[in-house]
Amino acid sequence: MTAQLIDGKLIAQQVREQVTAEVAKRVAAGKPRPGLATVLVGDRVDSATYVAAKQKACEELGMVSYHHPLPAEITQLELERVIRDLNEDELVNGILVQLPLPAHLDEERILSLISIEKDVDGFSPINIGRLAQKGREPLFVPCTPYGCIYLLERAGVKIEGANAVVLGRSNIVGMPAALLLIGKNATVTVCHSRTKNLPEVVRQADILIAAIGRAEMVRGDWIKPGAAVIDVGINGVPLLNPDGSPLISEKTGKPRQKLVGDVNFEEAKEVAGFITPVPGGVGPMTIAMLMRNTLRAAEIQQDR
Ligand code: GUN
Repeated sequence: MTAQLIDGKLIAQQVREQVTAEVAKRVAAGKPRPGLATVLVGDRVDSATYVAAKQKACEELGMVSYHHPLPAEITQLELERVIRDLNEDELVNGILVQLPLPAHLDEERILSLISIEKDVDGFSPINIGRLAQKGREPLFVPCTPYGCIYLLERAGVKIEGANAVVLGRSNIVGMPAALLLIGKNATVTVCHSRTKNLPEVVRQADILIAAIGRAEMVRGDWIKPGAAVIDVGINGVPLLNPDGSPLISEKTGKPRQKLVGDVNFEEAKEVAGFITPVPGGVGPMTIAMLMRNTLRAAEIQQDR
């Protein structure tokens, strides 16, 4: 292996410790504990798992979590009422609406309603607009891209002047990651499903952020030697028996899975200069940065 492993689990733990200490200091000074409202619409298992992890992190770091599980059939007006009430609630410093929302709901309108001072996901059009503009700063940076940049900086990777390639243009990861890299003076190429000659484009990257959601799509020979590879993908692939049939769990009776990223780790680690593992890379950083943003929201609202 030539690449240096970027240990997201360890770095996330350090961020969480900093936030915990800061929260304790505020509470000792008589300030209220920062509060995060999580809004989960419907019963998607993946979303429920992510939200549960966010609630747990809040409590571990000394913050308060206010959970709002809502039925998949909720109307647009009813959900808008929930958001307006949370905007008014002084105990709530941050509001997180887990995405995706069911198709009948207008996600853009819901995200626009969140008070900009409570937008700890950084998805409101005002925050994203500020992120995109020169000389302006968002109040909050979206958590997963923020985690990616934090990992690069902690690893000592030079962003300024680097050729950065972002695979994927989602509102949650790819697009804000590209905007952040531009803001740090990288030369950025954003690739997506219609990009031609993808391996060739990726081979130019000093920094690669892979957020396309396709298991192990990026092969070792796509990587420029010495590049920094940040793998945002979390893809479940079935585990197989030696005869190629699916391996079934004795406990649950369901097919067993392992998690892999968007990058073929075994191949890429022989070529890259730095690489994040899956799991244990970007994943833990998303929640750590959400906790940081929630602390910042409390500071903005309570310290003026
Ligand atoms: N769905 C997938 N990632 C995220 C995230 O970071 N925030 C929210 N709110 N929903 C998501």
